[in-house]
Amino acid sequence: MNLDPRPSVIEERLKGARRIIAVTGWKGGIGKSVTACTLALLLAKKGYKTGLFDLDFAGASDHLILGARGLFPKEEKGLEPPVFEGVSFMSVAFFSENRAVPLRGANVSDAIIELLAITRWGALDFLVLDMPPGINDAALDVMRFARKAEVLAVTTPSVLAHDVLSRSIELYKKLHVPVIGVVENMSPPRARGMRAGPGLKKGADAYLRFDAGLEGALGRPAALLKTAFASDLAMAAERLDIFAAEIC
Ligand SMILES: Nc1ncnc2c1ncn2[C@@H]1O[C@H](COP(=O)(O)OP(=O)(O)OP(=O)(O)O)[C@@H](O)[C@H]1O
Ligand SMILES: [Mg+2]
Repeated sequence: MNLDPRPSVIEERLKGARRIIAVTGWKGGIGKSVTACTLALLLAKKGYKTGLFDLDFAGASDHLILGARGLFPKEEKGLEPPVFEGVSFMSVAFFSENRAVPLRGANVSDAIIELLAITRWGALDFLVLDMPPGINDAALDVMRFARKAEVLAVTTPSVLAHDVLSRSIELYKKLHVPVIGVVENMSPPRARGMRAGPGLKKGADAYLRFDAGLEGALGRPAALLKTAFASDLAMAAERLDIFAAEIC
């Protein structure tokens, strides 16, 4: 008999989120975090009630991308995420104070489930999840517990990223997790048209160009929103109907 009450608690906690978008890609360093953060800022700017949850326990970076400093969740029958630039933001970085988190395997999974169970998001139009790289228990648990989650898959023009992506898409199909679309990041100007592979019958649905100005805009939300990367992502979100949701 399973006596763990957390799955039903998590379901209750996430009930107020109309859409949950898990930004994933399985490979490391391909732009999942900049995509998740910029998407959250774009959604908030459009007037959507938006949450952002950095689930990368080993390498939380969303607080750096946003430039969110000195924040801490309010403790009130759970944890209420602080609001930064219109985005309700939760990260393990609040608790680790920039030190490495000495957790592994089952403990990471457990910590993520615990945070999902105690965070009170309230009513949200969108909850954006910045997923950790890799195919591990933690990543699979998130998809298992956040049952409403849809995947926004990030890849790069590299055949290596593409190969991993194809396999991940197969797995999402098996798990019945809807895939909103595939975004090819750091795309060179003329190489639009990723080769199709097993599980990926066509190229990417949208392309985000390599933007030399992105690095300098990290930590400054207003500057981030003015980058070519953000304007490409806004176009991608438009094309994938992400902005078509009604505001709650
Ligand atoms: N389109 C782009 N143009 C220029 N630089 C980019 C672009 N996308 C991402 N980067 C840079 O690549 C680096 C990795 O991005 P990011 O941290 O978002 O990747 P990630 O997939 O989340 O990595 P990890 O797997 O470690 O979590 C960052 O320095 C980011 O600024
Ligand atoms: Mg990341």
